[in-house]
Amino acid sequence: MDFKEVVNTRRAVNLFDPEKSVEQSILRELVETAASAPSGFNFQPWSLIVLEDKEEKLRLQKHAMDQPKVSQAPVCLILLADTQGWMAGNRFADRNFDEMVKTGAMREEKRDWFNNLCQSLYGTDRETGVAFACKNTSFFAMTLMLAARDMGLHTHPMDGFDKKGVKDEFNIPDRYWVSMLIALGYFPEGGHMPEPKWRKTYDEIFVNFNP
Ligand SMILES: Cc1cc2nc3c(=O)[nH]c(=O)nc-3n(C[C@H](O)[C@H](O)[C@H](O)COP(=O)(O)O)c2cc1C
Repeated sequence: MDFKEVVNTRRAVNLFDPEKSVEQSILRELVETAASAPSGFNFQPWSLIVLEDKEEKLRLQKHAMDQPKVSQAPVCLILLADTQGWMAGNRFADRNFDEMVKTGAMREEKRDWFNNLCQSLYGTDRETGVAFACKNTSFFAMTLMLAARDMGLHTHPMDGFDKKGVKDEFNIPDRYWVSMLIALGYFPEGGHMPEPKWRKTYDEIFVNFNP
């Protein structure tokens, strides 16, 4: 599929073939492709909980407005966005700094300066941490959904769920924002694929707040 076909054939589908599972190798390829998404300073604050077991998916569904696709799709992903993914002491944040030093992009003596910079960008209050975590995790999510389409699968992103309910149900630590759920699988043969929905036009997308 060329890129435009991938983009134009993606839909948030409500139907999944419950008989057709997603091979582990396909899931791995999807996640590895999604991991190439960009992120601020390359912090990559995304993590996944993968649900394939019917009972587990039903445990999630009860917190997700009982949306049937959560359990009908062979795979449902819980996307976690780490609000502290930039913070010194965080395993991946520390590794990220080390990698920058290794490649010559940063000098070791800049560590405190860099940590302070990140603190001022992402750590001033809960909102900046959530924005950091969610915007970056959304790039991961979009890349995953496009990769899925490219590989013949379909997806449905969801934020219609009770965040606290999901966090409690799956023991998710407080520093994570549950950014979305993604149902993943194959569209059933003979199922009705919805038409593309309306979109803002080119002109409607631009704004200008000059007086
Ligand atoms: C962040 C996000 C959350 C969404 N949450 C839900 C949801 O909880 N339930 C649902 O049926 N659709 C949900 N959707 C799907 C949107 O309604 C859908 O993407 C939009 O109507 C455009 O349709 P399309 O994706 O088929 O082009 C969500 C989409 C996004 C991006």
